[in-house]
Amino acid sequence: MTPSLTQAELSKIKKHSLFIENILNIIPDPIFVKDANHTLIYSNHAFAKILGMPQADFLGKSDYELFPKEMVDVSWEWDTKVLENNITTENEELIQLAGGEKRTILTKKSMSYDEDGKKVIVGVIRDITDLRRQEEEIEVSHKKIGEQELKMIQASKMSALGEMASGIAHEINNPLTIIQGRARQIGQMLKNVEMDKKAEVNNYLEQIQNTVDRIAKIVQGLKSFARESDHLPKEQVNLSKLIHETLDLCVTRFETFGISLRLNLDNEVFLSCRSVQISQVLLNLLNNSFDAIVEEKAAWISLRFNSDEENVFLYVTDSGPGIPRPIAEKIFQPFFTTKEIGKGTGLGMSISKGIIDAHEGEIYYDKTSANTQFVIRLPKNLRQ
Ligand SMILES: Nc1ncnc2c1ncn2[C@@H]1O[C@H](COP(=O)(O)OP(=O)(O)O)[C@@H](O)[C@H]1O
Ligand SMILES: [Mg+2]
Repeated sequence: MTPSLTQAELSKIKKHSLFIENILNIIPDPIFVKDANHTLIYSNHAFAKILGMPQADFLGKSDYELFPKEMVDVSWEWDTKVLENNITTENEELIQLAGGEKRTILTKKSMSYDEDGKKVIVGVIRDITDLRRQEEEIEVSHKKIGEQELKMIQASKMSALGEMASGIAHEINNPLTIIQGRARQIGQMLKNVEMDKKAEVNNYLEQIQNTVDRIAKIVQGLKSFARESDHLPKEQVNLSKLIHETLDLCVTRFETFGISLRLNLDNEVFLSCRSVQISQVLLNLLNNSFDAIVEEKAAWISLRFNSDEENVFLYVTDSGPGIPRPIAEKIFQPFFTTKEIGKGTGLGMSISKGIIDAHEGEIYYDKTSANTQFVIRLPKNLRQ
């Protein structure tokens, strides 16, 4: 038997519950209570506000009557766990307000008991949209700083390497010129001298000459890496001829490894460029193709070009199946390589891009092609 309350006691309890009610309504975080049937039985003002409807419209209703089914399927399960296991859950979700605005909220739910001793779920919601936005902004700005630092480090690495290459090239060039000069002189002297072993000496001289030529080419490579030839004057060249000359440097290697060349270079197109540099770019592309397909059975590399009024377009394609996107995005970065240590430097593509940029052209990986394809666009008339 419950002892009946006096009028004064009843009035005090009413006042007290009004007092609590007021406090709950002042709290800016939405608060709600659901019974064991997942029916909303209480909410503060903030909850009604976030739902965008008056309390009368949602009190006494279950989640399924108020929210989209996919959303409730998940939260229903959590609610059951809260009720059955007396655990506290906390989960973050994206909700759409009545006005269409999207907010990120953190909902914390715990089990409690109502005045009759029945289990209820008490939920407190915190709107963390601004917090998340700030966190994202901080993350983005950190990333930007990181990228800038990386670019600076790469640029300084490149310029250090460029200086080194240029230094080495000069160091080698001087003694090379001496050897070349002396070999030529000996050759001249031999003409006037009767000697038994003239043929043999001539043979040695030829070997010296060939070796010197080879070293000269390496030096030329170093120079083009240092981009010293940026200062060379442009020249008018026949593109087909330039390509053939470049191919001469690697065609034997391709044949040895069974890579066939598909050439379509019969057009006659002239363009004004620094030919050593363009040849360097081509060699970089050809070498990359070689590395990519050398193990394939029916390996091929195709070279072709066409032109319009202002530009020539050169297509270097190989039998490879294309470059996966995450890799393709990075290939023009200096020092990016997928090759084993000692094999790749990761510089070929970035140097090539630098050269083509300096020619006011474009070089890009053509992701629409079925086979791995690079395209170079060069203006026919280089201005400076
Ligand atoms: N034809 C190609 N087929 C497949 N991958 C390629 C091709 N060309 C370039 N790549 C990729 O681009 C990377 C960078 O090339 P590059 O700058 O020349 O450096 P390296 O050849 O020293 O690795 C290569 O390691 C490779 O992963
Ligand atoms: Mg390379």
